Formats: sequence, structure tokens, C-alpha cells
Amino acid sequence: MADVLVIGATGTTGSRVAAFLRDRGVPVRPASRRHDLAGHVRFDWAAPETHAPALSGAGAVYLVAPIGVAEPAPLVAPFLDEAARQGVRRVVLLGSSAVPEGATGLGALYRLVRDGVPEWTVLRASWFMQNFAGDALALRARDGELLSATGQGRVAFIDAGDIASVAGHALIDEAPHNTEHVLTGPEPLSYADVAAALTRRTGRPLRHRAVTADELARHFAAHGLPPDFAATLAALDTGIGGGSEDRVTGTVERVTGRPARTFREFCARELR
Ligand SMILES: NC(=O)c1ccc[n+]([C@@H]2O[C@H](COP(=O)([O-])OP(=O)(O)OC[C@H]3O[C@@H](n4cnc5c(N)ncnc54)[C@H](OP(=O)(O)O)[C@@H]3O)[C@@H](O)[C@H]2O)c1
Repeated sequence: MADVLVIGATGTTGSRVAAFLRDRGVPVRPASRRHDLAGHVRFDWAAPETHAPALSGAGAVYLVAPIGVAEPAPLVAPFLDEAARQGVRRVVLLGSSAVPEGATGLGALYRLVRDGVPEWTVLRASWFMQNFAGDALALRARDGELLSATGQGRVAFIDAGDIASVAGHALIDEAPHNTEHVLTGPEPLSYADVAAALTRRTGRPLRHRAVTADELARHFAAHGLPPDFAATLAALDTGIGGGSEDRVTGTVERVTGRPARTFREFCARELR
């Protein structure tokens, strides 16, 4: 069986995709920008000379797009050309439920993947529960407040482990999925619901503060995100406020045979 190249293998979903595959005896080639990471192939979106060696001999790719890049297509298109040239058959792209196929941004990659290789899946994942664990929480939390521009809008947050399970199936199922999967968790929650759940679990008081998308973009930029990416990310909250993510798809259970994990399960497993 040819290797599966896992981009973002040190990250939230990629690490879980690699574990899913290893558990099933699938040869995994985890990728990282780091030179010093044993067992990893070096891969940097910003260093095209790393792309061909990383792909050499791979049969499938789990593709996490360049992080923090507002327009990733110019980096991803030549990579997919190289993958096709080297005979990669299958690519599973991590997209976003908030981003439909389009001409710009992450949405521009969906068509590139569909047209670029014979077998493809686009995972349009909802917002991750893991955004509230570890260092990731600091992106929205400040002085006991959880910031959003979502108002009362709700999101069916998803556990990254469930995204990885669907990705794993899409990578190794005999029949290619050749579709977009919209992946959600089992219950829509507001950011106020999340703040209350985190407070209950950790004992550290956190309350939701509704801000404008502009304020949120400034907060993200102050946190270190590139300004154009900060603005794109903050603007997605406005859609949530309008109800765009208030849905449950059931795709996790349909693909994996197991129900999507709840926010309560996530809190119990990953928060202290
Ligand atoms: N968070 C959410 O709620 C959410 C929801 C839907 C979709 N998404 C999408 O999820 C994606 C992020 O996935 P994730 O959370 O699994 O990743 P992540 O935890 O943010 O980790 C990023 C990974 O990418 C690698 N990386 C960073 N810059 C790189 C570069 N220039 N070249 C190659 N690799 C690079 C890092 O590895 P090294 O440091 O080892 O190189 C790391 O493993 C984004 O495309 C985002 O749009 C996120």
C-alpha cells in the first residue's frame, strides 16, 4: 500500500488523521516544516522545493491548506499539479462549513482538488471544539471573556477526532467518496452556551462578550494573525449570527458508523 502524506501532521486534525491511519496499519508519511522532527518528511507550503520530495511515492494526501494565508490557491495549485504528475490518486482536503466553493480564499481550493486528482473529498468542517482547549482558547478569550461577533447565533461545534475519522475513511475506503462532506457536531451551541460549559468544567469563570466583526478582527490581529486573514475570520462570525451554522448534518455518523461526539464529552476528555 502506498504512503498517505499527511500535511499538518503536528496540528489538530492532521495528528488525529495520522493516528487513525496508523491504528489501521496504513503507512503514514507525516509532514512538518521542522527539520528536527524524527519520522517526519519536511514540507513547507512556502518552500516549493520541499513539495516533490514529500510527494515521492505517496498514493494519497491529507491536505491542510497554508495556515493564515488569505489566498492559498497560488501555493496549492502547483502542489496538486506535482501530485498528479507523481501519480497521487486521492486527495482529502480540509475545508470549512463556513466557506462554500468559490473563486477566492479556501473555497477556491475545492475545485482545484476536484479537478486535480481522480479521487477526492472536501471536508467542509464546522468550527472545532478544540478551539476551546489549550493555547487555542487564547485566540478568543481575554480577561474572563469569550469574544465573538456571533450574537445569539449558534454553531454545531465538531470534535477534531470526528473530522479525522471521516478523513481517514475518505482516505482509505475502497470506493472514493468524490464529494463534499459538511461535517458538524451533534448540537448547535451559542458562544454563551460554550462559555457556560467551559466555566462548569474548569471552574474558571468565563462569560460571552458580543463584539462587532471589526472589533474581533482587531483582536485577532493583535493576537498575531495577519490583518487580512484576521478580517476574513472575523467576518465569518457575522454569518453565524445570521444562522448559517445552526444545523446538524449527521454526516459523521453516516460515514464512520458512530455518532458525533458531544461538547460535554469533549470537555470531560480534554479540559482540566
Ligand atoms: N479551527 C476551526 O474551527 C476550523 C474550522 C473549519 C476549518 N478549519 C480549517 O482547518 C485548517 C487548520 O487545520 P488544523 O486545525 O488541523 O491545523 P493546526 O492545528 O492549525 O495546525 C497547522 C498545521 O499546519 C502546519 N503548517 C503550518 N504552516 C505550514 C506551512 N507553511 N507549510 C506546511 N505546514 C504548515 C503545522 O505544522 P508544523 O508547524 O509542524 O510545520 C501544523 O501541523 C485551516 O485550513 C482552517 O481553515 C478550522
